[in-house]
Amino acid sequence: MAKEFSAVELIIAKREKQELSTDQINWLIENYTKGVVADEQMSAMAMAILLNGMNRREIKDLTLAMIASGERLDFSDLPMPTADKHSTGGVGDKITLMVAPLVSVFGVAVPQLSGRGLGHTGGTLDKMESIPGWQANLSNLQMHEQLEKVGAVVCAAGSGLAPADKKLYALRDVTGTVEAIPLIASSIMSKKIAEGTSSLVLDVKVGSGAFMKNLDRARELAQVLTQIGADAGVKTSALLTDMSTPLGNKIGNSLEVEEAVEVLAGGGPKDVVEITIALATEMLRLSGKTDVDVAAALKDGRAMDKWNQMVAAQHGDPKAVLPKAKHEQVVLAEETGYLNQLDALAVGTASWRLGAGRARKEDPVQFGAGVILHAKRGDQVTKGQPLLTLFTDEENRFERAIDALSGGISIAAERVSGPELILDRISN
Ligand code: URA
Repeated sequence: MAKEFSAVELIIAKREKQELSTDQINWLIENYTKGVVADEQMSAMAMAILLNGMNRREIKDLTLAMIASGERLDFSDLPMPTADKHSTGGVGDKITLMVAPLVSVFGVAVPQLSGRGLGHTGGTLDKMESIPGWQANLSNLQMHEQLEKVGAVVCAAGSGLAPADKKLYALRDVTGTVEAIPLIASSIMSKKIAEGTSSLVLDVKVGSGAFMKNLDRARELAQVLTQIGADAGVKTSALLTDMSTPLGNKIGNSLEVEEAVEVLAGGGPKDVVEITIALATEMLRLSGKTDVDVAAALKDGRAMDKWNQMVAAQHGDPKAVLPKAKHEQVVLAEETGYLNQLDALAVGTASWRLGAGRARKEDPVQFGAGVILHAKRGDQVTKGQPLLTLFTDEENRFERAIDALSGGISIAAERVSGPELILDRISN
């Protein structure tokens, strides 16, 4: 018979900086999922973990217990390896849209279970849903079939994956415990491991527009994430990438799909292309494909062909005109000089306030809302030239969006260079 514990005793143990055993962690998560351990007890435990941490074994046990709380997908019968990527979230981060079809060109299947956005970072499903007709919800069988036929699928994560994480995540959000690295890492990895991929590349974003604002914390998170992957038998590596300024030139749902299609057509902004190629190369490397020309598959239309198939398989029309916002307003440069700061959080918040994101999870999003950048950080600009264009369906949103930008843009006579785009790579 499984051992019984008392929630209060476990909370006190963690409060006193003691290690929790595997049995104790399993008991805690199982009983929290069932409602036997109450929300207030789990809140106290989350705070004790935030303050006192967990060691590698405890974090692995926590992740495995969260996986065991729900269903686990299995793609081991597919005739090809599987690889997935996960980004910790950023502004203008549409990389999944290109990476999924691009990696599948080389015979590696990409099962990408995604979510909707909350706050200033957009969700992949919101972007894909701006394509007329596209359906996010697939059964496990449909997902399997699409992976076999097309090689790539982006769809909604069903409620059966890691339900303990769903409950705990909502609790952390309202108890000031989101930032605990053991909790972030087990939350991300429980969903990704339950999804059944054999390799995983993490894009850990660093900077104002990201969860992790500084490089040391991001590196620590990346190390813990890759250790969990190694401990659970999933080949995992992480890239640390800059998120102090937005990625690409277009931010917002249909705007980001538009930019993804530009990249799949062989063009698109340099930073988006660089990260797409770096992540796809890493996913392929983990799947044993090292001698491949990833850039060529973007240039010659092979990735675009896969994209068209992937969208059509989920009832989307890849040739349809994408939704456009009803109103637009241009923001001009106030000085001549170098655009030294174009802050990711400021632009992400502006886009969110224009209607591209939601404040509560049940809110709708405006597909056409968002921001187009006419200059990137480091560019030379002239007073009066357009810096960005804001898009929304509701004109009264412009004022608060412009407020969000104040303090986020600076132009100076001397050029100050920003951080590199790819800051580090971590594997175990
Ligand atoms: N993403 C997740 O899924 N969980 C976290 O805790 C943070 C980011």
